[in-house]
Amino acid sequence: SQRIRVIAGNWKMNTVLDEAVELVNGLRYELDEIDTVEKIICPPFISLAKIKELLQGTSIRLGAQDLFYEDKGAYTGEISGSMLSDLCQYVIVGHSERRAYFNEVDEIVNRKMKAALRHGLKPIMCVGENLKQNESGTSESVISEQLRVGLSGLTSSNLMVAYEPVWAIGTGKAATGTYAQKMMAFIRRQIAEIFTETAANELPILYGGSVNPENILEMLAEPDIDGALVGGASLKPGLFLSIVRQAA
Ligand code: G3H
Repeated sequence: SQRIRVIAGNWKMNTVLDEAVELVNGLRYELDEIDTVEKIICPPFISLAKIKELLQGTSIRLGAQDLFYEDKGAYTGEISGSMLSDLCQYVIVGHSERRAYFNEVDEIVNRKMKAALRHGLKPIMCVGENLKQNESGTSESVISEQLRVGLSGLTSSNLMVAYEPVWAIGTGKAATGTYAQKMMAFIRRQIAEIFTETAANELPILYGGSVNPENILEMLAEPDIDGALVGGASLKPGLFLSIVRQAA
């Protein structure tokens, strides 16, 4: 396809500031040289400003892991799109860990998607079924609902979708390329219905869930898999670099 390859690292709740700086320093020169892949790192909020400085002038992009849907006000502890928009280019929205631990339902994900786009941030919207839904054969209807509500009323399709089957996250048990392809082709067809055929053809869809240097090529060999959202392996410079290199 003509779509750009994307490898995004989601550091989740890992690294204090010093560790974040060390991790970026261990990555940035080599990552910067790989120019056929969009490389994105998503560190914790508290490290964004410092890492932005370290990445100045490089081709590595920065993302946040979440945002709140209001722009400002009495929302103690929250971070808005307006705060993020001069720090980073991307934001992860609706990650399954937020859905599971912070009660983020599809309506909230939708409000966050709108907030991200309103502030010029490119959202990476996560969808995916859990083990129970997978075993009961409802994966497609779950994902279809997450997409329908999460993407409802958006005025732009300037976004990415990450398909992350919850049972594959942090378990070392990645989906097979064949299974991921089937689900991601389904997602692309849903995107075509929600937006347009053209939007669906242009929109990057990433696979997430136990991606490592051993399975990245199996994923990228599939026509609807444009890249990966990498968790655990993004915390190890050697592993992350290997994944990005293989995607190039
Ligand atoms: O956002 C990243 C995913 O949740 C995948 O995490 O690579 O540690 O399985 P993982």
